[in-house]
Amino acid sequence: DAVDNAPAIVIGSGYGAAVAALRLGQAGIRTLVLEMGKAWNTPGSDGKIFCSTREPDERSMWFKTRTEAPLATFLWLDVVNQDISPHPGVLDRVRYANMSVFLGRGVGGGSLVNGSMAVTPLRSYFAEQFPTVDTAEMYSTYFPRARAMLGVNTIDPAWFESTEWYRFSRISRAHAEKTGLRTTFVPSVYDFGHMQREAAGTATKSALAGEVIYGNNHGKKSLDKTYLAAALGTGNVTLHTLERARGIRRLSDGTYVVTVDRIDGTGTVVETKEYGCTYLFLGAGSVGTTELLVRARAKGTLPALDTSVGAGWGPNGNVMLGRANHLWDTVGANQSTMPVMGIDDWANTANPVFAEIAPLPTGLEHWVSLYLAITKNTERASFTYDAAGDSAKLGWSAAQSAVSSSMAKKLFDRINSANSTMYRYDLFGSSNKVFADDFTYHPLGGCVLGKATDGYGRVKGYSKLYVTDGSLVPGSIGVNPFVTITALAERTMARVLVEDTAP
Ligand code: FDA
Repeated sequence: DAVDNAPAIVIGSGYGAAVAALRLGQAGIRTLVLEMGKAWNTPGSDGKIFCSTREPDERSMWFKTRTEAPLATFLWLDVVNQDISPHPGVLDRVRYANMSVFLGRGVGGGSLVNGSMAVTPLRSYFAEQFPTVDTAEMYSTYFPRARAMLGVNTIDPAWFESTEWYRFSRISRAHAEKTGLRTTFVPSVYDFGHMQREAAGTATKSALAGEVIYGNNHGKKSLDKTYLAAALGTGNVTLHTLERARGIRRLSDGTYVVTVDRIDGTGTVVETKEYGCTYLFLGAGSVGTTELLVRARAKGTLPALDTSVGAGWGPNGNVMLGRANHLWDTVGANQSTMPVMGIDDWANTANPVFAEIAPLPTGLEHWVSLYLAITKNTERASFTYDAAGDSAKLGWSAAQSAVSSSMAKKLFDRINSANSTMYRYDLFGSSNKVFADDFTYHPLGGCVLGKATDGYGRVKGYSKLYVTDGSLVPGSIGVNPFVTITALAERTMARVLVEDTAP
């Protein structure tokens, strides 16, 4: 028998989950949120909630003995990563055969570790990826609603042009322009007022102190400060941390039962619990939600799940790379960790790429221009259940990644040729790797909207079971994805609260 029944349960506390929790709470529906990570609201012995990127400690990564930062080396030396003790830290790197996925762990999910870039996708590409969604309604109602709730703001262009902290962006812009390419400012959920005070020395530095992938101690409007704070403020939402959902089954009366492992600070399972609910919302992210459903289908606890559960996954075409600049093109020892500009060549139908101009804040001049390219890679892979590990494995191949890197190469070969510059060979390990196409920050798909679910995220085969996170997005969205995930979740909740929860 299930214990602790709640009308609604939300699994996870990232973007999709946070939207669900807020809208359920506002509708007066008592809701339990289950998050496997910690609440990042208590300072450690150094007085800080998050550790710094330069001196990572146990708070940095999810149960690792050594940090696994995306940029592995510098001048081929392993100077970036450090030994740590295993702990429920904030950044995870989940390794599949040919692809590793970076994820945020904790109350707020990816919002705790991401680069804050709050980009609304190109309308025509959104329509291409979501042919059944009313695009006009998305762009008039749900994208604006998501941006307002997330606290999206833009950098003051005059400050951008003058500050040393964005010299790295201006150099990359100049090189793009010399190639005949267009650049565009990118909005953010990092508070630029705070950042300007950091630069002026009147606020504690965070983005200007190298903080990002292991959390920002100041300035960032992560979900715990926006959607989740509002959700808890309704008085109807309760949040449990360090509780990892493992199993989902359905009783004959329609109640969903979620089996949860509660872990301690060492990762040991200290208790296994069961919660029952009428409405179950899956917001565990592309990897988390897909694994839960693939496991439930394989183990027969939700046998009616559609065959397309697990399919349609892609890494948003992510490729990271660095260019070596001429000695006179200094990028600056001081770099903000929050990207604010991208090279937008998506309209180039022969080779569509949107490349974020990324910082590399080492505190020293290094002449490196770093980029996270988002390429229009149409390759997709599936998750399947692996009984031996009781987990999902991802069938992504190295050849599928090569499609992304060849697109990135085409764009950056042009930039190098126009500026007589070269690639950096020393950033991604010992094998002179130029294009890091074997990891992603943007895992998307697995329970694709309109395939594994209906057009609103209702899981096919089961009533009152919903997906609200990045697993709905079919592998690619052309820009950084959290605004899209948030807006789609707003659309789902608006529909579900009207049609499915009427007494
Ligand atoms: P998300 O992954 O946010 O949340 C899932 C939550 O569920 C997590 O808290 C997880 O711990 C929890 N969970 C998982 N399984 C569970 C289980 N079984 N039981 C309980 N809890 C479980 N995007 C963008 O738009 N702009 C940007 O600048 C960046 N930059 C960036 C940098 C880095 C380093 C990363 C890792 C990612 C980004 N992203 C980004 C991507 C963005 O953060 C990502 O797309 C979203 O966080 C995905 O939102 P979701 O709601 O899908 O899940």
